[in-house]
Amino acid sequence: MKVRKAVFPVAGLGTRFLPATKAMAKEMLPVVDKPLIQYAVEEAYASGIKQIIFVTGAGKSAIENHFDHSCELEQTLMARGKDAQLKELHDLIPTSGSIIYTRQNQPLGLGHAIWCARNIVGNEPFAVLLADDLIKAEKPVLKQMIEKFEALNASIVSVVEVPKADTSKYGILDADALVDGVTKIRGLVEKPAPENAPSNLAIIGRYILTPEIFEILEGKEVGAGGEIQITDAMARLLKTQDIYGYRYTGTRFDCGNKAGFQMANLAFSLERPDLRERLIPYIKDLLNN
Ligand code: UTP
Repeated sequence: MKVRKAVFPVAGLGTRFLPATKAMAKEMLPVVDKPLIQYAVEEAYASGIKQIIFVTGAGKSAIENHFDHSCELEQTLMARGKDAQLKELHDLIPTSGSIIYTRQNQPLGLGHAIWCARNIVGNEPFAVLLADDLIKAEKPVLKQMIEKFEALNASIVSVVEVPKADTSKYGILDADALVDGVTKIRGLVEKPAPENAPSNLAIIGRYILTPEIFEILEGKEVGAGGEIQITDAMARLLKTQDIYGYRYTGTRFDCGNKAGFQMANLAFSLERPDLRERLIPYIKDLLNN
């Protein structure tokens, strides 16, 4: 079955970015001049996704507005002859009906946010993208994963090798070493201490899941950090289905933390010739003083 739908959980509180996220969604933080959520939505469309599902929460209306027309702004741009900017704004607006919004009434965890999309996803495999994992890749990472899904016909999570000391920040795989970027998962542990981590393969924010995950999430089992964790639900899904870890090809920026977010801004800025020209001498100057 084809992966046609992608769920974007965007209802988290973004506490690591306070006060920036007090009145603004973390997913609206810009890398250079584009919000994180736009990079993720563009990745989904470039991977063949047809239906976008946002799981939003309180105070996230900027996301809805971002993907809609802004009549006043558009009229002003038109009157001022700013055609390029006008086109850019039009291009980012998906066809009516291709985005659906649902609401997570309380931020009870990522697993719970995904469960909130169950009636919209229905009985078919679907993708999940966490916008704070920004991945620069020649072939979109979700597209890489969809190809693997079509070959393996099983749920897939994207993984990255992390230093042992960092295992307590991630869902960690119990699995053999990767072969051609893929490994069959034996077990999953959410945020294990380094001494208890079964590997250094950490789950990052791209998943393709089969709909049976919703039946497990229905149990609303609370896990690490008092939250309903998708990792725990996947660990249970493993009892009846295979799940694979996939090491994507690309460069990932963890924009959920401040250092990763600044690195993304630097890397993406330095790719723009006009910005690069101004930034390189400035950085050199900063480092020398
Ligand atoms: P994070 O673990 O990064 O949590 O969520 P957070 O609340 O966004 O940020 P911090 O840790 O407080 O700084 C990963 C993704 O899951 C979504 C978030 O919006 C983010 O995209 N999420 C998390 C939800 O949609 N609902 C939740 O209850 C929790």
